[in-house]
Amino acid sequence: MKSGWRGTIDAVGTRKLPPDPDVLGAIGLSHKLTSAIADLVDNAVDAEATHISVRFVEVDRRLVSLLVSDDGKGMSDKAIDDAMTVGKRRTYRDQALGHFGMGLKAASFSQADVLTVMSRTSSRRAVGRRWVRSHAKNFDCDVLDPVQVRTELEAAPFRGKSGTIVRWDRIRTFPHSDDRRVTDDFLSKTFQELRTHLGLVLHRVLKLSSISITLDVLDADTGETGAPQVVEALDPFAYRRSGELGYPKTFDCNVGDRSVAIRCHIWPPRSEALAFRLDGKPESRQGFYFYRNDRLLEAGHWKGAAVPSRRLQLARVEVDISDDLDLFSMSMEKNTVHPKPEFVRAASRAKARDGTTFIEYLESAERVYRKGNQPNRARKEVVPPGPGLAPSVKSAIMSELPIHEGRAPMEIRWKSLSEPKFFEIDRAQNTLWINTAYRQALLAGRRGGLNDLPVMKALLYLLTEDVFAGAAYGPRDKDNVEVWQSILTAAADVEALG
Ligand SMILES: Nc1ncnc2c1ncn2[C@@H]1O[C@H](COP(=O)(O)OP(=O)(O)OP(=O)(O)O)[C@@H](O)[C@H]1O
Ligand SMILES: [Mg+2]
Repeated sequence: MKSGWRGTIDAVGTRKLPPDPDVLGAIGLSHKLTSAIADLVDNAVDAEATHISVRFVEVDRRLVSLLVSDDGKGMSDKAIDDAMTVGKRRTYRDQALGHFGMGLKAASFSQADVLTVMSRTSSRRAVGRRWVRSHAKNFDCDVLDPVQVRTELEAAPFRGKSGTIVRWDRIRTFPHSDDRRVTDDFLSKTFQELRTHLGLVLHRVLKLSSISITLDVLDADTGETGAPQVVEALDPFAYRRSGELGYPKTFDCNVGDRSVAIRCHIWPPRSEALAFRLDGKPESRQGFYFYRNDRLLEAGHWKGAAVPSRRLQLARVEVDISDDLDLFSMSMEKNTVHPKPEFVRAASRAKARDGTTFIEYLESAERVYRKGNQPNRARKEVVPPGPGLAPSVKSAIMSELPIHEGRAPMEIRWKSLSEPKFFEIDRAQNTLWINTAYRQALLAGRRGGLNDLPVMKALLYLLTEDVFAGAAYGPRDKDNVEVWQSILTAAADVEALG
């Protein structure tokens, strides 16, 4: 057979090819400091901790280490070996946040060169291990002196019978400046980001349990810690009143013989609530919110089920993927969810139990946004934009400006005009005619159509709409039209002649 393709090729033997230890430098690359710390906090939640402390350590006024301590059930000698093993999966209980057996290592090496883990269970002696990224040849992991480890555990912020400290040193993402102000700015920004990120991704866990998460700074020279900050639950669906009656609504997405329920919300317009603003960009927080075992993985992305736009910013959709991991895959960093195309298609075709379609939901969210942003009385009513303008341009105009409903829509169309002029105002037919003589030149090789040249037409609409709005066509209007005509015709001639 000379086709260059064979089905299966026979193996003639096997060879063990262990990964190069440098692989440790390549995992977790899409982590930020906040998402990496969240991965350690997830582990503490899985270990049934009630107190979790995130502590930044300063020596000589420089930030040098980070400790995440918890009073969870801790690890035995065997468990800590497994914990330090890249990709070692344990048996997970149903509600566990862990999944890949990677988080601890990937999160740590994305930020730091040295990872130390110290732990003890309620019945066994303290154990400690250390990975140094650059010395991880042959995957040799340091076993730490149990006596010193016990002393460290006893100095942890929460003293209990069991618990764990994860420590990072040589952190690449910390500032290396000696300048106090640089460190202070970094800390205040990082604390704010951590409160938002941890409060958001764990908002259900924090609400449903008695777990407390605190953030503080230890000055290792004096042994003093600053006042701790507490992470509060930040629920992205915590509006006081829905933006629209009848919402939130549950929609069924039918994928094969299965149905995934999604809960569609409409925020009230112009909310100043932190739960809406989140990290300050509510517009980028529209779309699906994917949860797994009450942990929020990704906060706001349409995944192709709708096109993100400013006007859709009130639409947020809760999706629980815990039981449907075959339809959704999550990134190792647990900050992105990839739904299968079947789900996205099913979502855009989904219906609520009262018959509302997903498209109608999106339209309602847009309408609520538009209405909420309309009562700007300083803006004058305009004639409705009509055929000739692309639908998204029309809806942008309608969401920004109050529409004079009594007026016929203004059309923008092409026509061969007898005189060498760029346009003609036809008030009787509510049409702005553009001279076809210039069409090819303006299209510059692109295909023409009813809604072609949207930028130019939007500008023409904004310029001339007022002439169509007035009852009379007075001398002032006529003069304006003359000015536009002569300037635009000159410009169009330049386009046509190259
Ligand atoms: N704070 C902790 N307390 C007790 N055990 C822990 C702690 N942190 C990690 N472990 C143990 O170490 C193991 C490895 O953690 P790691 O985060 O690398 O993977 P995982 O949590 O199993 O899965 P994922 O990659 O999805 O996070 C965990 O399964 C858990 O048994
Ligand atoms: Mg984990």
